[in-house]
Amino acid sequence: MLTVAVLISGTGSNLRALLDAAADADYPARIIVVGADREAEGFAHAEEYGIPTFLVPWREYDSREDWGAELAAQLEVWRPDLIVLSGLMRLLPPAVVEAWSPRIINTHPAYLPEFPGAHAVRDAIAAGAVQTGASVIVVDDGVDTGPIVAQERVPILPGDDEHSLHDRIKPVERRLLIDVVRRIAAGELDLAAAAASVSPSS
Ligand code: GRF
Repeated sequence: MLTVAVLISGTGSNLRALLDAAADADYPARIIVVGADREAEGFAHAEEYGIPTFLVPWREYDSREDWGAELAAQLEVWRPDLIVLSGLMRLLPPAVVEAWSPRIINTHPAYLPEFPGAHAVRDAIAAGAVQTGASVIVVDDGVDTGPIVAQERVPILPGDDEHSLHDRIKPVERRLLIDVVRRIAAGELDLAAAAASVSPSS
């Protein structure tokens, strides 16, 4: 059974979908802990499932490195096989990435390498794009630059705003995330091999 730590900042709807999937006895991964950089709404999903949570409040640390050191200490307590960044709105410091790579994956609401960064959905609309997408990547030291392990297109419809478009992207993100975690757990997706290969889109 693959053990997973999920890190969030927000509502945790993607976390919720992964928790629901992992509740199926046939799903080969279990979420063992949920962490956040703030009092995230999404903690409620973990609590509902009786899954432990930890908080490393971003605002209480002087630097990304100090925050990351405490995050790493928390992760070290749980020693998950995989870390999923699911809406964590902070860049992990290089020391944390180095310690856990390639066992950190991130979901992103765009078809990377298009529209990296924190405002991917807004940026796609502002660019006048007719399609965007969802991606799951292996985290590296860059901003959404790691090897892509799954992605799918989502059309941008006339009249879409950031909210409506994000609402259509999220179900795709969830499906990709659940499938990627399943494939990792089943040995069908080797993150080390993915991390060593050149991203198909670069
Ligand atoms: C997702 O679209 C994620 O990719 C982005 O923030 C969103 C998180 O949503 N970075 P939620 O907290 O899972 O509802």
